[in-house]
This record gives sequence, C-alpha cells and structure tokens, in this order.
Amino acid sequence: MPHAIRIHETGGPDVLKWEPVEVGEPGPGEVRLRHTAVGLNYIDVYFRTGLYPPPGLPSGLGLEAAGVVEAVGDGVTEVAVGDRVAYASPPLGAYAEARLMPADRVVRLPDAIDDRTAAGMMLQGLTAWYLLHRTYPVKAGDTLLIHAAAGGVGLLVCQWAKHLGATVIGTVGSDEKAELARAHGCDHPIVYTRERFPDRVREITAGEGVPVVYDSIGKDTFEDSLDSLRPLGLMVSFGNASGPVPPLDLQLLSAKGSLFITRPTVMTYTARREDLLAGAQALFDVVQKGVLKVAVNQSWPLAQAAEAHKALEARQTTGSTVLTV
Ligand SMILES: NC(=O)c1ccc[n+]([C@@H]2O[C@H](COP(=O)([O-])OP(=O)(O)OC[C@H]3O[C@@H](n4cnc5c(N)ncnc54)[C@H](OP(=O)(O)O)[C@@H]3O)[C@@H](O)[C@H]2O)c1
Repeated sequence: MPHAIRIHETGGPDVLKWEPVEVGEPGPGEVRLRHTAVGLNYIDVYFRTGLYPPPGLPSGLGLEAAGVVEAVGDGVTEVAVGDRVAYASPPLGAYAEARLMPADRVVRLPDAIDDRTAAGMMLQGLTAWYLLHRTYPVKAGDTLLIHAAAGGVGLLVCQWAKHLGATVIGTVGSDEKAELARAHGCDHPIVYTRERFPDRVREITAGEGVPVVYDSIGKDTFEDSLDSLRPLGLMVSFGNASGPVPPLDLQLLSAKGSLFITRPTVMTYTARREDLLAGAQALFDVVQKGVLKVAVNQSWPLAQAAEAHKALEARQTTGSTVLTV
C-alpha cells in the first residue's frame, strides 16, 4: 500500500505522520500519479500550523510533485499513461508516494528536465514567472527589491530578473546567503538581520527608491518595504514567513507616496489552464536555456518531512528543497 504524510491536527512539525493510504482509481477528469520527487514550499508550513486552515482534517499536505501518470479517468485529454508530469496546485496531498489529481492541473515535462529539478522548481518557478511578468512586468533598467533572495523563490527571481535586464537588490539572513544570492544574479545583497534595508535601498537608488518590492516575509518587513518604494511604487506582499501582516491603514499608502499594493497568489495566476501552460512553458524555456539554474540544495526522504520543515522554519535552507520518494 502506498504511504503519505498526513496531519490529524495542525501544529508543529511533529503533527506530520507517515501513514498507509488508499489511492483507488481515477474518476472522470482525474489521473493517478506515482510520485518520484515532492517539492517543499513555505506554504506547506502555513497549512501545517493552521495559519492557512486545511479544508478539513485529517488532511494530506503539499502542493507540488513530479512523477508518472499510472492511470487516467474518463475524459482525460491533457496527459496519457506513462507521461512524465509535474504540478504545483491544490488539492493538498503532494506528500505522498501516489495520489489522484485533477488532470487539468498537471503538465507534461520536457525530457531535458529531470524529476528532482521539476519538483524543486514548479511552484517557486511559476511564482517567479508571475511576479516578474504579470504582477509587475519587469523591464530592462528597472531596479527591484526581493526579500529572502537566497531562498527557493528568491534565487529564481534573482536569476530571472537579471536576465530581463533589471538591477536586483536582495535581502538575506547571513553573509553566506549574500554570496549565494550574488552568484545567482543579485547585484546588491543586503544582510537585513544586520543592516536597515530601506536605508541601503535609498543609497543604491540615489535616494529615489524602487518601483517594486516583492515581500514574502510579511510582519517583520512590511513597513520597511513600503519605505523602500519610490512614489507610485508597487508593494507585492506575497508571503508571511515571519507572520501575517496586521490590518493595514490605507492612509499609510497615501502618506508614503500614493503607493499601490497587491496580495497575490500563484494559484490565481495559474487557475486557467491556458495561464498554467503559458507559465510552465516560459519556465521550462529559461531552465532549458540555462538562464535559470534550479538550486536543489537540500533533500530529505519524504517520510522525514518533519526534519525538512524544521530546517525551513529555522532559516537553515537555501534554494529549493526536495523530498525524495
Ligand atoms: N503568494 C505566492 O504565490 C507564493 C508562492 C510561493 C511562495 N510564496 C512565499 O514566498 C516565500 C518564500 O517561499 P519559499 O518556499 O521559497 O521559502 P524560502 O524563501 O526558501 O524560505 C523562507 C526564507 O524566509 C526568510 N525568513 C525571514 N524571516 C523568517 C522567519 N521569521 N522565519 C522563517 N524564515 C524567515 C529566510 O531567509 P533569510 O534567512 O535569508 O531571511 C528563509 O530561508 C514564503 O513566504 C512563501 O509563502 C508565495
């Protein structure tokens, strides 16, 4: 019988349980996947702790994996038995050896992209894609600020933004992470545990500020991120690794220069299949051309997902992390 990580309650890493699961046959529009590699993402921590409530309990966990199509239900046209595929999508349950999945959420993998790379890049790579191409379309000559620049999303954003001709300012938690971010295209790493990043951003931009901040840290960085923007700049608040942003007084946006704000999620930007395929194609292109190197810097066996969660929350990981099946 296949096994999966399940949670019966929300809480610390110890709520992750390795259990046998019944997978069954795919219904109409579904496929059964045999996973080969599973992606670890910060959003998995939010669902585990209950910051984002799972739809019900007990629940599976995880939104990203690569594998092979083992069976298809009625009406499935997107993929066929034997295809190598990957996904970054609900429903929760990617932390599993095998599972059912809606076929329209799954994309075929090119031969040149191996399963470990795919599991390490789908969710974070599609995020980098929509942030840089859809939320604020980055142009050559732009200067942008990205937080956690040495993390999974961060290293991909640095490389892709640099390729688009931007100057990249990135915050990181240590000197080692600063070097890693720099090696991936970050022009100005700032160790924000030591330096006040809005001051450094003003220095780097000759007092002007940046047109866009991509902020996934949340509570600890929110106001300083607003203070890094130029007038009419765009605050992209796309995560809460330090905790959720408290309710916002809209007057603050006026006082700090008629700022714009958005709170996006990759799920909206890939909800329509045509958008999912456009994003995946753009991502596969830059990976195959070597523009993006997917740094899978850690892996744990899937059954030991709790150890991976502990490392991620303790800021000990860099780049992407894969759980091996
Ligand atoms: N909205 C979306 O569509 C979307 C999609 C994907 C990811 N995200 C968000 O993007 C962020 C990055 O995701 P990821 O999976 O690539 O993770 P990650 O960046 O690899 O890991 C999180 C990083 O956040 C930094 N951090 C700062 N304060 C922290 C704290 N108090 N606790 C833990 N970490 C802290 C750490 O880097 P330093 O030590 O360098 O500070 C840590 O390594 C997450 O907030 C995630 O929720 C959002």
